[in-house]
Amino acid sequence: MLPRRRRARTGSPGGPARPGPACPCPPRFPGIAIHLAEPRMGRSRRAFLTRLALSKGFRVLDAYSSEVTHVVMEQTSAEEARCWQERSAAAASPPECTRPELLDISWFTESMAAGRPVPVERRHRLEAAVPAKGPPGPVRVPPYACQRPTPLTHPNTSLSEALEVLAEAAGFEGSEGRFLSFRRAAAVLKALPSQVMAPSQLQGLPHFGEHSCRVVQELLEHGVCEEVERVRRSERYQTMKLFTRIFGVGVKTADRWYRDGLRTLDSLHEQLQRLTQQQRAGLQHYRELSVPVQRPEAEALQQEVEAAAVDILPGATVTLVGGFRRGKLHGHDVDLLLSHPQEGLEAGLLPHVMCRLERQHRHGHPEDAARRTRHSHTMDAFERSFCIFCLPHPPGAAAGGAHRRAVRVDLVVVPVSQLPFALLGWTGSKHFERELRLFSRKERGLCLNSHGLFDPEQKMLLRVASEEDIFRHLGLEYLPPEQRNA
Ligand code: UTP
Ligand code: MN
Repeated sequence: MLPRRRRARTGSPGGPARPGPACPCPPRFPGIAIHLAEPRMGRSRRAFLTRLALSKGFRVLDAYSSEVTHVVMEQTSAEEARCWQERSAAAASPPECTRPELLDISWFTESMAAGRPVPVERRHRLEAAVPAKGPPGPVRVPPYACQRPTPLTHPNTSLSEALEVLAEAAGFEGSEGRFLSFRRAAAVLKALPSQVMAPSQLQGLPHFGEHSCRVVQELLEHGVCEEVERVRRSERYQTMKLFTRIFGVGVKTADRWYRDGLRTLDSLHEQLQRLTQQQRAGLQHYRELSVPVQRPEAEALQQEVEAAAVDILPGATVTLVGGFRRGKLHGHDVDLLLSHPQEGLEAGLLPHVMCRLERQHRHGHPEDAARRTRHSHTMDAFERSFCIFCLPHPPGAAAGGAHRRAVRVDLVVVPVSQLPFALLGWTGSKHFERELRLFSRKERGLCLNSHGLFDPEQKMLLRVASEEDIFRHLGLEYLPPEQRNA
C-alpha cells in the first residue's frame, strides 16, 4: 500500500480505487468491481482507463482481491490470463465461488461506450480458449516431422489423404514446392491427437497455407473438395499413377510416355523396346505386384532370407525395415537389411544369398524364377538388389486364383558400423526421412544419410551405436519406428 498522501497525489490508478472521499462520484453499479490487470497494460494507459471508468460511475479496484468481479486485460492470451489468475489468486485467495470474470479489454471499452456494464458474452471471455472448456483449441505442433510423433493411424485420415492427392499430383507435374507444401500440411494433420472439426483449429499450425486451409475447410463443410475430386478423375493423374506403379518407372519416365500419347498398360506391351529390363519385369508382373504384401508374407520372407544368409555366413543378420518396421500391416514391397556383427564379413554376401534364393524359388516355379535386377541410380551406395520374388500361393488363396505370387523385395547389405544409420534411413517414412535430413542440415549444420552423420565444420563422421544415439546427436527426442509414420 502506498502512503495515503502519495496515493492522493498520484491519483488513479493508485488513488481513488475504492469509493470514498477521493472518488469523484458514488458507484452507479454496486454489483461490479473492475480490476485492470497490468501485465500488458502500460501504467499510464491503466491510469487513463481507471479515470475513464470512475468518471462513468464504475468501481475500480487497484489491488486484486475477493471483491473484484471483473478482471480486464489487454493483449493477453487466455493462457497468460490463466497463469496470471493462478498467481494472483494464490496471493489474494478469493473463495472459488467468487472467481471473477477474466475479460478482454473489448468488454471494458464497450461498457464505457454504453455508459453501463454490457452483459458478458463468450467473445469477451479470456477463458473461451481454455482447452478444457468448449471445442479443442489450437495445438502446438513443431514444424519438422522428426520433432513430433506420428502414429500409423490418426483421426484425420480423410483430410490428410485429400492433401496427399494434391501433393502427388503436384509431384507428377514436377512442382516440388507445391508437392512439399501439401505433403507437409498432410503430415501435420497426421500428427494431431484429435479430429479437426472446424477450420479455426488450423490456426497456428505450421505449413498450413491458404490453399491447404481452403481444401480442409471445403472438406469440413461439404464432405468433398471439388479440386481434389477433379484431380482424382483426371486422365493425367490416373495415367501417371498407373505408370509410376510399374516397378522401375519413375515420374520422368511416366511423363515421357504420357506426352507420347501412351495411356494404358496394353499400349506399353506394344512398345516393349522402350522399357528397361526392370520395367519389363514390372509390367509382366504388374497385376500381382499391385496386390499389397501382407505382414505375415513379409515376415516369412525375412525368415527365409535370414536362413539363407546364416547358412552362407554364420552370424549374419537380416532386419525387416520400411513400412513393416513402422507397424504397417501391408506394403508395396519388403525391405531387408543384411549385415554381420563383424565389419567386413558382410561383403560379397549378397550374390550368394541371391543365388540360393533363386534356386529355391525356381524349384517351386520353374517358369518364373525369382528375377533379379539391378538399379542404376540408387539413393545410397550400399550393395543392393531390387528383385521380384515369386512366392507360393498366398495363404488361404483359392485354388482357382493366382498360380504364383510375385513380391518386390529390396535387399541391402550394410557394414555394421553404418547399421544404425541404415536402419534409420530405411525405416522411413520417406517424408520423415526428408524432414530429418533437412532438420539436420538447417538446424544443426550436419549432413545425415543412410551411411552416417557428417559434421562439415569438423570434417568428421560422428560415431554411433544405435538409432537412439543419432537422435541424441541431433538434439531430438527419440521416436520409435511406430511414431515415424509422417
Ligand atoms: P519404401 O519405398 O519401401 O517405403 O522405402 P515404405 O515406407 O516401406 O512403404 P511401402 O509400404 O513399401 O509402400 C522404405 C524406406 O527406405 C528408404 C525410403 O526413404 C524409405 O524411408 N529408401 C528407399 C532409401 O533410403 N533408398 C532407396 O533407394 C529407397
Ligand atoms: Mn517398403
